Amino acid sequence: METKRYTVEQIEQAAADLKAGELISFPTETVYGLGADATNPEAVKKVYAAKGRPSDNPLIVHVASVATVEHYAAGVSDRFKQLVDAFWPGSLTIILPLKHAALDSVVTGGLKTAAFRMPNNAVTLDLIKAAGVPLVGPSANTSGKPSPTTADHVLHDLNGKIAGVIDDGPTGVGLESTVIDLSVATPVILRPGVVTQEAIERVIGPIMTNHHKVGAAETPKAPGMKYKHYAPNAQVYIVPTPDEFPAAVKWASQQNVPFGVMAVDTVLGQLSDVRFKDQFSLGDSVVTASQHLFEGLRYFDLNPEVKIILVQGFAKEGVGLAYMNRLEKSAGQQYFTSK
Ligand code: TXA
Ligand code: MG
Repeated sequence: METKRYTVEQIEQAAADLKAGELISFPTETVYGLGADATNPEAVKKVYAAKGRPSDNPLIVHVASVATVEHYAAGVSDRFKQLVDAFWPGSLTIILPLKHAALDSVVTGGLKTAAFRMPNNAVTLDLIKAAGVPLVGPSANTSGKPSPTTADHVLHDLNGKIAGVIDDGPTGVGLESTVIDLSVATPVILRPGVVTQEAIERVIGPIMTNHHKVGAAETPKAPGMKYKHYAPNAQVYIVPTPDEFPAAVKWASQQNVPFGVMAVDTVLGQLSDVRFKDQFSLGDSVVTASQHLFEGLRYFDLNPEVKIILVQGFAKEGVGLAYMNRLEKSAGQQYFTSK
């Protein structure tokens, strides 16, 4: 089966595929999602197979209205409504307790909660309305690979495994949504994203965060956090600050394998007389770096000669926290240090 590339004018056809139990990749403002009818367990099962995703890792339910959330979730609280007013449609996924057996366990991974999100993408909101059902939507990548920020990335991983992808150009944010658990007494951020803890606390008051406590040995709260993630073929080393780059490239040169560099333009400019195999620009700030991180990691997979990638780190604050969370996973926590 050849995967169709739908234009944004072909929503009705894509919705018909979804209704027929097929998989359609849809654009969001964060990354491309792998859509299936959330009310059709057979269709949802295909999502795990196409991605090669462990089936204990639950899926986000994408909605086009708050009424849909109220249909499935028990205890839609004031906090939920405040977060929706502030951040939806947008890059915040909210975990709520479910009404009894409201969604199949293939969606929830057997949990009594489910994750809901209204993406900030007009095409996909129209798609959900046209399909008339909420859509599960994990990132549309092969499990373990960087999340896709273009339709080409989706096709690279899933061509022939899904019915279609709706091409709406590159996504804007580049990192997956913030995941917050509202099913517990004190809300807790399970995955950092561009909607920051500070921004959330301005709306609902103090919350907690536990994403950096999740290690392979523990039972993670967000099941997805325990798996190897975002890993390109080459080994990634994080270069914590721009001034460490000269020492980092010197060290990489001594490894006698081709290496690449991902950094902002000013850093690349300072390295212009150093010989490395390939480079990828992260733009000029942590915001553009976040938009292009996954694209850059995928870029180096196209050049199998490259065995080491030196990637610029940023301070773990604001968006930098989400950027570093993804980068640390892609690097398996490996940092370059000259000390
Ligand atoms: O930006 C995004 O969120 C993208 C776009 C496509 O919407 N989607 C996405 O989905 O990143 P996925 O499946 O790659 O990540 C969902 C995360 C996983 O870490 C999963 O374990 C967690 O949310 N999750 C889902 N349901 C949960 C639940 N009921 N309790 C705890 N964690 C949950
Ligand atoms: Mg994912």
